[in-house]
Amino acid sequence: MAMDQVEDVRAAADIVKIIGDYVQLRKAGANMMGLCPFHQEKTPSFAVHPGKQIFHCFGCGVGGDVFKFIMLVDNLTFPEALERLAEKVGIILVQSGAKGTDSKSHERTALYKIHEAAAKFYAGQLTGTGEGRAARAYLLDRGLKDEVIGRFLLGYAPRDSRALTRHLSSLLFSDELLEKTGLVLRDAGGSRHFDRFRGRIIFPIANESGKVIAFGGRALGDEQPKYLNSPETPIYTKSRVLYHLDRGGKAIRKQDYSILVEGYMDCIAVDSCGIENVIASCGTSFTEAQIRLLARYSRRVVVNYDPDSAGQAATERSLNALLEAGFEVKVLALPGGLDPDSFIRKRGDEAYRKVLAAAPGYIDYVTDRAIAEHGLDSPQGKLAVANAVLPYLARMPNPILRQEMTDRLAARALLDDRLLREELRRAAVERRPAVASRPHEYKASPAERKLLLAFLENQEVMDELLPALVADGVLSGLAAEDVFLKLLEARSAGGAIDIHALGESLSSENQNLLHESLLASDEIPGREDAIRFCDALRRGKIERKLSALNPAIDAAGREQDWARLAELNQSKVLLMKELARIKENLEIENKTSAK
Ligand code: UTP
Ligand code: MN
Repeated sequence: MAMDQVEDVRAAADIVKIIGDYVQLRKAGANMMGLCPFHQEKTPSFAVHPGKQIFHCFGCGVGGDVFKFIMLVDNLTFPEALERLAEKVGIILVQSGAKGTDSKSHERTALYKIHEAAAKFYAGQLTGTGEGRAARAYLLDRGLKDEVIGRFLLGYAPRDSRALTRHLSSLLFSDELLEKTGLVLRDAGGSRHFDRFRGRIIFPIANESGKVIAFGGRALGDEQPKYLNSPETPIYTKSRVLYHLDRGGKAIRKQDYSILVEGYMDCIAVDSCGIENVIASCGTSFTEAQIRLLARYSRRVVVNYDPDSAGQAATERSLNALLEAGFEVKVLALPGGLDPDSFIRKRGDEAYRKVLAAAPGYIDYVTDRAIAEHGLDSPQGKLAVANAVLPYLARMPNPILRQEMTDRLAARALLDDRLLREELRRAAVERRPAVASRPHEYKASPAERKLLLAFLENQEVMDELLPALVADGVLSGLAAEDVFLKLLEARSAGGAIDIHALGESLSSENQNLLHESLLASDEIPGREDAIRFCDALRRGKIERKLSALNPAIDAAGREQDWARLAELNQSKVLLMKELARIKENLEIENKTSAK
């Protein structure tokens, strides 16, 4: 594709809007701030600069332009990110004649196409006679309406072991590609291809943008396994996908919470009640990647896993991970040992809405469970309850909430003995230190950073001040020296500075410095400020020279080298004079700016 198309896409894609789809951003001075999607944090250190169209996280140090963001967040190559953004902003990319665009991205495109064709094929089977009709009867029997079957693109894989393989081959997809989807397998002899899914109800699984990337297949009867799933493929990483997020995501953002269930059928049942903000983890372990994915939509969640023991264990495991990620968690354990699907079928939509609205916070949930297990009749029981709940309390990142919950536990577990209460409080307060996010320490001084910002925001001021700084050697040896030099170079080449091009010409450390400087301050320094920063840098340089002079002067004195001593002293006097002049300047400026 032509390079200028990259710039077209960049110009059309507003970084605030694009990132806003992933991160809730709030205005903070000239920037937008939010919780970083690339590391776990509780206070926002992720900044987006609307004017410069860059992002930077002060916590973990990632940063760059809109392409970089999409590459990182969606795990894409540059051409793929470009393609995705182009699609979002409605620009049609002209493919360059050369075949080299990216064979990986071609392969992915083909894999998406195969999945789309397979989903259509499976869905079509439900309308057929015989087998397909029986499968449809199974779904209707489980309470699914035609409308729901259509909306979830449900289907059926016939028992014929080559039905899908034949269909896909007739669409001229190569055997090699078909094998890569995992939908078509090769027999032990290696010569014959056959279908992975046979005689199963099919649940298509889509990625966030709604493209089908895998399938789950349920046995019609008691055959094992109950569910068979697609293997991992170049377009499907199980641990990074949440079922129904493509369609539930919007509602999750809007209502600012999600309902997390275990299975496909549960998810479909809840959605069919008109509760769209539901997603399924599809399997018992809820991974870090899934948590990060979900956090981009909302950090409030109601965990509604099955009340069986596997579900309970999964609930507790997921609770821990969610709490650590700073989620606000409620737990819905349905009565009667029912999973969401059976509960809704038995008791109806309204009953589900009711218990959902009454779902307790997780501290109450674990307290209830501990009380049920240990009882509160004996001091030992009370202590056991307290010990069971404390680890959860200790994971709460917010100290105020933690205190509140600690008091609540003390009250609920009838721990009115003040000593025990104190004990509890102490244990909760001494919580395990949070996973330290790497703080980034760059050597550049505040004056350097602010001067960079002043120059970038006002390029005439840069033209006025920067050449002299460079000529006088004020910048030599400074941490930001290279950034300033590249700036001058770019400016001398003519025209306005292109932040993205400038960034690319820098080392990654300097690129970070550039982005941090641009995003660090709420106030944009003006010309007067810039002059002050220049003076501060000049003063710093003189002070460094002076402190280097003193040992030399001492040495010359010891060696009785009078000529050298006179020379050094003269330099010292000149430097002191210069320093006094700058200090005076700074004072005058401080006075005028104070007015
Ligand atoms: P469940 O066993 O609770 O099934 O597994 P379910 O969702 O209630 O399904 P129905 O109502 O019996 O039809 C919960 C989820 O765990 C995954 C599936 O995603 C399933 O929806 N699972 C379960 C598997 O991947 N493989 C299995 O063998 C079983
Ligand atoms: Mn079920």
